[in-house]
Amino acid sequence: MADLRIEELSASNVVAANSLTLKPGQEQFVVPVSHSIAEAYVNPTTAWPRVVLEGDDVVGFVMGNFDADADQPELRSCIWRINVAAEAQGKGVGRFAVRALTEEARSRGFDQLTVIWESGEAGPEKFFLHLGFEPVGETPYGEVIGAIKL
Ligand SMILES: CC(C)(COP(=O)(O)OP(=O)(O)OC[C@H]1O[C@@H](n2cnc3c(N)ncnc32)[C@H](O)[C@@H]1OP(=O)(O)O)[C@@H](O)C(=O)NCCC(=O)NCCS
Repeated sequence: MADLRIEELSASNVVAANSLTLKPGQEQFVVPVSHSIAEAYVNPTTAWPRVVLEGDDVVGFVMGNFDADADQPELRSCIWRINVAAEAQGKGVGRFAVRALTEEARSRGFDQLTVIWESGEAGPEKFFLHLGFEPVGETPYGEVIGAIKL
């Protein structure tokens, strides 16, 4: 996709962000965007919620969390959520969104970006590994903690 840009979550795009659809089977790997929007609202100092637009269309949602003082190291500079619209998947939107987050993390002085994912065929594991994230641990719930150096 040639014409991608990133925009802060706002009143003008929140409805479209909340309407993003996933492919069948993916729902189990990600909480609904509405949860993330609520989390961003109650964590305004650490959450970094953004939409990806292609032209005027919202094709993705990504949320970072930046909190150098977080007790859990994997939450200090992390991808909290990432969703690409079903019809826009496989065209570089996810890569574009992760790059925006890595740039934001770097500009804030972090030297790595982490993400937590659940293993499974329809899950995002291959995407994150392909982008260069490496497994560095596991949560108490058996999810993978991945990290990429910036
Ligand atoms: C995971 C997700 C964000 C990927 O977004 P996307 O826009 O489809 O990914 P991209 O098109 O940017 O892919 C980037 C690269 O990863 C590769 N890739 C993406 N998904 C892949 C998969 N399932 N298996 C293998 N490779 C994959 C692509 O081939 C591409 O490689 P290339 O750039 O070398 O050609 C998207 O599938 C999604 O929204 N999934 C549902 C929500 C979800 O699981 N979120 C994560 C919660 S932790």
